[in-house]
Amino acid sequence: MTTLRLPGLIDVHVHLREPGGEHKEDLTSGTAAALAGGVTTVLDMPNNYPPVTGSSTLESKRRAAAGKALCDVGFYVGATATNAAEAAGLAGQAAGLKIYLDETYGPLRIQDPSAPAGHGLAALLGHFSTWPADRPIAVHAEGLSMAIAIGLARTFGRKLHVCHVSLASEIALIRAAKRSGARVSCEVTPHHLFLTEDDERRLGALGQMKPALASAADMAALWDNLDVVDCIATDHAPHTLAEKQGDSPPPGVPGLETMLPLLLTAVAQGRLTQARLVELAYQAPRRIFGLAAQADTWLDIDPDARYSLGSRELHTRCGWTPFEGMSVQGRLRRVVLRGETVFEDGRIAARPGSGRPIVPAAPGRNAQNAGSAGP
Ligand code: DOR
Ligand code: ZN
Ligand code: ZN
Repeated sequence: MTTLRLPGLIDVHVHLREPGGEHKEDLTSGTAAALAGGVTTVLDMPNNYPPVTGSSTLESKRRAAAGKALCDVGFYVGATATNAAEAAGLAGQAAGLKIYLDETYGPLRIQDPSAPAGHGLAALLGHFSTWPADRPIAVHAEGLSMAIAIGLARTFGRKLHVCHVSLASEIALIRAAKRSGARVSCEVTPHHLFLTEDDERRLGALGQMKPALASAADMAALWDNLDVVDCIATDHAPHTLAEKQGDSPPPGVPGLETMLPLLLTAVAQGRLTQARLVELAYQAPRRIFGLAAQADTWLDIDPDARYSLGSRELHTRCGWTPFEGMSVQGRLRRVVLRGETVFEDGRIAARPGSGRPIVPAAPGRNAQNAGSAGP
């Protein structure tokens, strides 16, 4: 059997749901899912209950992670209408600032639609003028909101990271923005690369998330413009089956455990090179978010194994996947984190505390504890 060795992947967009949503996922179950998917660092989003918008909520997440996480975890701080100064003061402990410009799950949309005109803009000006210029501002900004975020980043000379680009028009905008010199990076999700609105019709609520699955032409545009895509990130957003099958299903799908096999399948099919996979899911995330290398950390993969994705094998608490039944090629055999085997042949061997809360260094400076860049 040939073994392919890759660095531990970095997923810059996950929702671990702790605090407030532990019945969907918590720091331990979510980081178990990460390891089972070959991800040894995750950056966790702030749309919790309560949301992470200040030093006490950020500090309590970091403390919880130190005791419970199985892989390394960095934390975003969330933008509200009134917290620009406090958020900026936390930039040294946060993965980045997260701004929700559009309606989605959670309490953090920056503009309350019932607020007076100009209210949301004033909040955005506060954040874009106060957040440190060398740390990323990540945005949930679809369609026209994306153009607004890019315009603000240009106006204030800020570093923008656009989450989950899903449309042909959006990837065209990012290409043009990059060409014009904007400091903008972007991510796409596996679900927008491998599923379309036809799958949403088939899957019902299990195929619903924000941004929604798009047309086959949009999906093709993401593949055709992969050269402008910086990262692949899962937007792992677990909700229980009961919630998804209820009257008002929340948007979001899990993705940590299915990203690597899907991408390895694309490599086997010649749609992606192995070097590009490593760039998208390891090197670019490190560069954009200023993350130190994890010493003695790697993945061992059987690139020839063929199987079907299924919920039986999952470690995420939500216990389902929108990719159920999809045929893939490439199976993760072993994950080594800092010299310790933390996952092997379907079994988690890490203990709570194997993972660490991380403090990213400013890009360009030497990251703290930087070791070798892995294999
Ligand atoms: O589908 C989504 N679910 N999109 C988001 O932006 C948030 C996420 C969640 O937290 O469930
Ligand atoms: Zn989002
Ligand atoms: Zn998200």
